[in-house]
Amino acid sequence: MAASKVHPNYLKEIEKARRDLRALIYSKNCAPIMLRLAWHDAGTYDAKTETGGPNGSIRQDHELNHSANNGLRIAVELCEEVKARHREITYADLYQLAGVVAVEVTGGPTIDFVPGRKDSLESPEEGRLPDAKQGARHLRDIFYRMGLSDKDIVALSGGHTLGRAHPERSGFEGAWTKEPLKFDNSYFKELLKESDSDLLKLPTDKALVDDPKFRYYVQLYAKDEDAFFRDYAASHKKLSELGFISP
Ligand code: HEM
Repeated sequence: MAASKVHPNYLKEIEKARRDLRALIYSKNCAPIMLRLAWHDAGTYDAKTETGGPNGSIRQDHELNHSANNGLRIAVELCEEVKARHREITYADLYQLAGVVAVEVTGGPTIDFVPGRKDSLESPEEGRLPDAKQGARHLRDIFYRMGLSDKDIVALSGGHTLGRAHPERSGFEGAWTKEPLKFDNSYFKELLKESDSDLLKLPTDKALVDDPKFRYYVQLYAKDEDAFFRDYAASHKKLSELGFISP
């Protein structure tokens, strides 16, 4: 873990919470929704106004009620079990730690976690998260607003190696990969297959294959899992620290 200037007792509590999260995610098979929670808390960041980002604001009813967050109340409530045992940990740190642990326990790369995020009660306006029905231009508008790059867009989209879409939440249905509880590079391999399968491809997933700059990374990650893990870990760390100045 990177050096951090939070109080040593806080660091100890983070390590205990990390163990509790491992056990919770393992026993409830909830890695995918925990990763989605971490991403949706962080992914509202606007670099220009320095608003949104991983600040725990997603726990508030009005933000949870944004349509992009359908279903995430389950993850917020699961995190409450851990919060109750580690009161001093901020929601902002807890949700990002849950995202990091979700990737780790499903076989993904280790992501460096630096604690010290502050909680906010200021929720951003609705509409800052990506709309799955759109294409490459929209993805760039949304991720560039956060200060992220084309490489980050493709690497982070690899998060869809986990989990599935639920018709009652997003209107989409199905998993992206054959083993949705395993973090690997199968999302990219499936994206490049020409033949139709039962697996899900959102319009925004297809945009990664159609756009030449995105496609370069899709091809790289499909053939080289180490490259995917290395870039994913770096992009996930960036996402989890948007607007965060380590104490
Ligand atoms: C699920 C859209 C990026 C992680 C979903 C769902 C949609 C979606 C529509 C289905 C929700 C449901 O019905 O339950 C998008 C779009 C993205 C994007 C348009 C733009 C690139 C990401 C990123 C991550 C991520 C960056 C993490 C790094 C997940 C996970 C699930 C999910 C793990 C499965 C949740 C579950 O099984 O409950 N996403 N997503 N997504 N997304 Fe994304």
